[in-house]
Amino acid sequence: MTEEEWIKIGNNWKTTSSKVQILFPTLDSIMGDISGKEILDSGCGDGAFIRRCKEKDAITMGIDISDKAIEGCKNSDPLGKYLIMDTKNIILEEEFDWVLSLFVLLSFDNKKKIEDAIKSMGQRLNKTGKLVIVIPHPTFEESDNAETMKRSFDEEYLYSKKGLKINYKSKTKGYLAFTDFHWMIEDYVECIKKAGLVIEDIKEPIPAEKYKEENLDIYTKRVKYPTMIVFVCSRKR
Ligand SMILES: C[S@@+](CC[C@H](N)C(=O)[O-])C[C@H]1O[C@@H](n2cnc3c(N)ncnc32)[C@H](O)[C@@H]1O
Repeated sequence: MTEEEWIKIGNNWKTTSSKVQILFPTLDSIMGDISGKEILDSGCGDGAFIRRCKEKDAITMGIDISDKAIEGCKNSDPLGKYLIMDTKNIILEEEFDWVLSLFVLLSFDNKKKIEDAIKSMGQRLNKTGKLVIVIPHPTFEESDNAETMKRSFDEEYLYSKKGLKINYKSKTKGYLAFTDFHWMIEDYVECIKKAGLVIEDIKEPIPAEKYKEENLDIYTKRVKYPTMIVFVCSRKR
């Protein structure tokens, strides 16, 4: 979704089950023991991951460009710290052990915005802090393994078409239609480097065996193609 679409949709958007089943366990293993750690979720949406971190005794803050999303976070977690803020221009004094950018950078239609966002988040890391960036996996964008969304493109899909507009329409709820932008892995890597960060690790999460029993059809599709890719970055030393 573009930033304007996100502001419009507000808190009508909820964290999907694929994130809870596939991404969250991957983040748990990357982040390890987060008790007492300072975590910033930049583009926190409905705040589901923040609440999970709080349950593990982390000290959390969520920011999002959508006032309604922030309002929703505050309703679900009245004592939590949530602020309306642009990830490209984070105005905070605090430094964090972990800064998270989960499915946010695909909202940006040009690389400068991606670079600005990564730079701004990187500046909020403490000396040993890490930035975790998650975007859809390129193998997922063109494959037909999205159970709820129908995808189309303004032009023919080619992996090498940088900034290609991806249109989504909900298969089940007619009202939901939005836009994302396709970038190549090399574009994200270039932006990470230009922002003065280094990539320490890359993960391509797939579902754990136990989800086979829950829904074999979805498990089979998601195990075939990773739906997301995770970059773990740190400041240059
Ligand atoms: C796909 S949702 C992901 C939410 C959450 N990170 C998750 O993974 O469940 C993208 C979120 O990024 C937010 N967003 C988009 N552009 C932003 C920006 N420039 N600054 C901060 N948040 C932004 C949207 O409002 C939305 O809540």
